[in-house]
Amino acid sequence: MGLFGVRIILCCWLALVLSACEAAPPAGVISLVMAGGSGPEEAFAREQLTEFHRLHPHLRVAYQSTPSSASDRHTLYVTWLSSHSPEIDVLNLDVIWVPEFAAAGWLLPLDARVTGAGLPLDEFLPAGLACSRYQGRLHALPWFADAGLLYYRQDLYGAAGLDPPRTFADLLKVRGLKKRFGRPYGFLFPGQTYEGLVCVVLECMWSNGGGIFDAAGRLTLDQPRNREVLQALVNLIYQEEVSPLAVATFQEEDCRHAFEQGYAVLMRNWPYAYPLLNQAGSRVAGKFGVLPLVHGPEGRSVSCFGGGCLGINAFSRRPDAAWELVRFLLTRKNLKQRAQKLGMLPPLRSLYDDPDLAAQFPYLKSLKEVFIQARPRPITPLYSFISHILQVHFSRALTRQETPREALERGQAEIAGVLRRFGQEGAAK
Ligand code: GLC
Repeated sequence: MGLFGVRIILCCWLALVLSACEAAPPAGVISLVMAGGSGPEEAFAREQLTEFHRLHPHLRVAYQSTPSSASDRHTLYVTWLSSHSPEIDVLNLDVIWVPEFAAAGWLLPLDARVTGAGLPLDEFLPAGLACSRYQGRLHALPWFADAGLLYYRQDLYGAAGLDPPRTFADLLKVRGLKKRFGRPYGFLFPGQTYEGLVCVVLECMWSNGGGIFDAAGRLTLDQPRNREVLQALVNLIYQEEVSPLAVATFQEEDCRHAFEQGYAVLMRNWPYAYPLLNQAGSRVAGKFGVLPLVHGPEGRSVSCFGGGCLGINAFSRRPDAAWELVRFLLTRKNLKQRAQKLGMLPPLRSLYDDPDLAAQFPYLKSLKEVFIQARPRPITPLYSFISHILQVHFSRALTRQETPREALERGQAEIAGVLRRFGQEGAAK
């Protein structure tokens, strides 16, 4: 069966699932569909939607949960949108997809609506806005902000009288602590072949003064600073026994579960893990802290900017109703509630000084700059191509199918090929 056939089947499946789940709305009621995350995200979205229905009795929103892996969700969205399906009206998009989807014509430009509603754009974190724009126009609005964080066992470091790691060199020494407290793992990070791995490796590169592109937009993947950190990650697994080989199969949730069971000393993860690790039943509740990521000798700690935006499907038959929903989800009150419930931090600067959030997330005050300074991945419609190449070669390096040198050389050549093919040499950042 061709790709077209697969798309038709998926879209029919989606239409069937949605019609089976939702009873026909009463006359005069407009139905919408919103796609977003599953698990606690879905449960909380449903709570907010109940409130939305109370305030807007003429609108009814069905929630379509989607895979939690960024890469899997991307594939699903591309399948829906490339067939110009109108089924989903509002999409929770990863910050990295907006330029790609906007360039394809799949997202409704929002500038006029934003101006009309008087939304204060300068309130948003700059990286969130930058990721939501394509060719100067807003095609989405930031919904939550992610930045990579280092979770560490405060109790173990305290008992050993040691400071938690600040540099890559400190990280390499975690084996002693792991042995002393009988933990199977030192440092956990998501190393599966997917988007999460790209975030981790880019953070290491940026925090060592490297990166994929330089300030002028020239491709600089194959450079000594990047080689150094990729080698350090490999050494963590094979030489230092700080990270298990299993990280090559881990996503964020695998890391979170293992850390929550008390198996690890350190973990790289996003803010969503914080409330979950403190919930009843977690073996590490009240025993861990959060810090900026480790950095290289000449670098400073740089976190990858992640998170989600809300966009409206350009093929939606109910764009005005969809906009009502987007506006509701982006009210200050709802963004704050979402942070309180899910630990997914708001895209608005001022909420980082909110006393309730500061009480619930003590790290917020000291790490506010981490969020403000977090660096976006390259903002380009070609990002999916670039990421796919990086995923493959970073993963091969971690599993020793390629040396770090080979991984970067080959990655660089392949990315250069993509940029050439699309006439974008030197244009990416
Ligand atoms: C988180 C981030 C997202 C990133 C993904 C990678 O969901 O918010 O931006 O792409 O993790 O796994």
